[in-house]
Amino acid sequence: MAKKNVVVGFMGTQLDSGQGAGRWEKWRPTISLVQHEDTQIDRLELLYTTRYEALAHTLVRDIAGASPGTVVNLVRIDVEDPWDFGEMYAALYDWARAYHFDPDHEQYWAHITTGTHVAQICMFLMVESRFIPGVLLQTAPPKKQQAGNPGSYTLIDLDLSRYNVLAQRFSQAHSEALEFLKSGIPTRNQRFNALIEEIERVAVRSHAPILLTGPTGAGKSHLARRMFELKKSRHQVQGDFVEVNCATLRGDGAASTLFGHKKGAFTGAAADRAGLLRTAHQGVLFLDEIGELGLDEQAMLLKAVEEKRFFPMGSDREVSSDFQLIAGTNRDLRLDVAQGRFREDLFARINLWAYTLPSLAQRPEDIEPNMDHLLIRAAAETGQAVRFNAEAKTRYLQFAKSAEALWSGNFRDLSASVTRMATLADGGRISTALVDAEIQRLRWLWQPAGELTAPNVDLGALLPVDAESKLDLFDRMQLESVVRVCRESPTLSEAGRRLFDQSRMQRSVVNDADRLRKYLLKFELTWDEVRQQA
Ligand SMILES: Nc1ncnc2c1ncn2[C@@H]1O[C@H](COP(=O)(O)OP(=O)(O)OP(=O)(O)O)[C@@H](O)[C@H]1O
Ligand SMILES: [Mg+2]
Repeated sequence: MAKKNVVVGFMGTQLDSGQGAGRWEKWRPTISLVQHEDTQIDRLELLYTTRYEALAHTLVRDIAGASPGTVVNLVRIDVEDPWDFGEMYAALYDWARAYHFDPDHEQYWAHITTGTHVAQICMFLMVESRFIPGVLLQTAPPKKQQAGNPGSYTLIDLDLSRYNVLAQRFSQAHSEALEFLKSGIPTRNQRFNALIEEIERVAVRSHAPILLTGPTGAGKSHLARRMFELKKSRHQVQGDFVEVNCATLRGDGAASTLFGHKKGAFTGAAADRAGLLRTAHQGVLFLDEIGELGLDEQAMLLKAVEEKRFFPMGSDREVSSDFQLIAGTNRDLRLDVAQGRFREDLFARINLWAYTLPSLAQRPEDIEPNMDHLLIRAAAETGQAVRFNAEAKTRYLQFAKSAEALWSGNFRDLSASVTRMATLADGGRISTALVDAEIQRLRWLWQPAGELTAPNVDLGALLPVDAESKLDLFDRMQLESVVRVCRESPTLSEAGRRLFDQSRMQRSVVNDADRLRKYLLKFELTWDEVRQQA
């Protein structure tokens, strides 16, 4: 058995109107539906608002005359303002949720030609989201107006593949946003990409606080600004991006910088000050290193975030500011909470959306695309294109991805490294020699501070068998230091000069080299032997 045709549609207060006989001369979309000879409409769910009760009854009578087989259900929806999206959507949604759809026996056509534009969009959304399990129905007048000519109608099935184009547009906008957040760098690390993907969704949908954690240089500040710019491009913020590093806020000035003050609030408060929270009104406030904020300021901030209101210093009048908070930190705030340095309630508030940016060492596969990006940027800045020799690139990447490369400053280290090579490159070419020198520099940079002053000296390997164990601690420590200086010095004389730099001033005849040679001899060591192990 064929399914019944059921139309759901708004009554057109303009298009369907008319009381006198003349109404049969003009094209009325809802009436036209039942005038097609080859299409039987079994039922019509006619949505109308209270004000148009009379017109609704006229339509019911007219349909009964034109198509006695069509059942018309008048559905009164209570919306004050048919141009109010929220109200209209809610009314239609409520109706659709309560309606008993029976797709096994009936097919549904959602009429989108009538109703306010807002009503039409809501109808579209209902079908697109399958709250109304049907297709869209669009009606059009005949080319030449003529009594009784119903014009034409079109059915649009959003599930058909050609309407995937619509869906693709959305996904294209989505991927453009992702690329924007990643500064156009085609990163490959799955964890990082998944993170950025979620951040994109949250950035465009949420106004709630966001917490960005991660090691220094991982890109927290950079990402916060990008999120703001993304929101701005989607017209979700009208205000500015206001950024402050809380580590720079100390003492009395901290509260005043953030919350503003009234003239005379304290000595030195010569004029009213708005404060950063108010400057960020309708924009984004990025509080970097939020863990450095004092406990009092934390309490004030919590109130400001929750109530969008706060008291400037020295003022008994509350002011309001509506901003989105993005907080950054490279500390584990949970520890700070446990140790009473960070308020638990504020932490709970900003921890709703918390993201940890991975370090560069945790995503070695992204070093190459980041490096390429930095080279292009360097080229734009210096006006000279720079490229690696193939072998040089392989060598650099091999080191960069090895466990030895700590990348403790993350993106900042990589950026500095690429900048150095790009600047030193002759003829725009980064050679293997340049890479080798850069690798040395990075090794030095990432040496643990302890080792900087005390590279290991293995006396056991240097001295004759068992000699080391017979030395006093005093001699052993002294000898270690002397050997270290020898190894850092190019010549025996230079080492002597450094070791005897005070006493040599009092001597008329200086022979530092000789003194050093004699000292080493006490341990049966020569300059060459000491240097050999370097
Ligand atoms: N994805 C990126 N694309 C381009 N530049 C980036 C990217 N991430 C970071 N940078 C650059 O790297 C440097 C360090 O990034 P950023 O200041 O955002 O790090 P951070 O995590 O905020 O560090 P800190 O904890 O020290 O404040 C900046 O110069 C920033 O512009
Ligand atoms: Mg930062």
